[in-house]
Amino acid sequence: MADLNLLDEVPPSWQIRRAYDLWSICYDKLAAPWEHGPRLRGLEAAGLRSGEKVLDVGVGTGAIPLRILARRDQEIRVFAVDFSLRMVAKARRRIAAAGCANAHLVAADARALPFPERAFDVVYSAYTLDLMTMKDVSLALSEFRRVLKPDGRMVLVNMSKKHPGQIGWFEWIYRAMPASWVAYLLGGCRPVILDGLVRQARFINVHREFVRDMIPSEIVVARKPRENRVREQTLCQS
Ligand SMILES: C[S@@+](CC[C@H](N)C(=O)[O-])C[C@H]1O[C@@H](n2cnc3c(N)ncnc32)[C@H](O)[C@@H]1O
Repeated sequence: MADLNLLDEVPPSWQIRRAYDLWSICYDKLAAPWEHGPRLRGLEAAGLRSGEKVLDVGVGTGAIPLRILARRDQEIRVFAVDFSLRMVAKARRRIAAAGCANAHLVAADARALPFPERAFDVVYSAYTLDLMTMKDVSLALSEFRRVLKPDGRMVLVNMSKKHPGQIGWFEWIYRAMPASWVAYLLGGCRPVILDGLVRQARFINVHREFVRDMIPSEIVVARKPRENRVREQTLCQS
């Protein structure tokens, strides 16, 4: 039995990318329905308004852009990234088939986003950070913070558990399976609790909600501080 430290031992990112290239074929049928509820609840928590610019990181087959675009609000600009080229291609096809033109999908890594500072009102990411090592989560969070406008909102939806000490059924399956199979057979997500890292990444108003659903999940909502508040905090600390 593999002795996985499930909080940090995850498949390497090249393997995750390769696995999601394969998952792109059947993700909508096999995996997406399990994640549907928390994903939408996260979108609701984002409170997206007309005129705003939103970035979906780890877009998969495009479920969230499709949901936003279904509002037919031309004033909402939707951007999305994924490091699996096949996922991006699939999401583009689905969005085009739905007759929506105003979404911009780019193949890119969450740890090095190809956007300027302060570009987005909302950064949303579902079931993506729970695939990364904690070090990579911190890198991604600092990228999310960089591309958010001051006072911008971030919403994360992750596979999770109510208490850190708990070992859920998913983790038991992980333990029983060779680590190299996990991404291909289960997708590679494992339960995480990320509100602490979000605070460490200097987000404010951090709120975590645990959702008991088909996939036990957390929804973490936070804000990037306004600049004068950061300056005030820095002055107080010095
Ligand atoms: C479990 S799927 C979730 C897809 C989508 N967010 C959803 O809820 O349906 C995770 C997605 O994140 C992408 N991903 C994982 N690590 C990534 C990274 N470092 N940068 C960009 N995309 C990543 C994978 O390729 C995959 O498409």
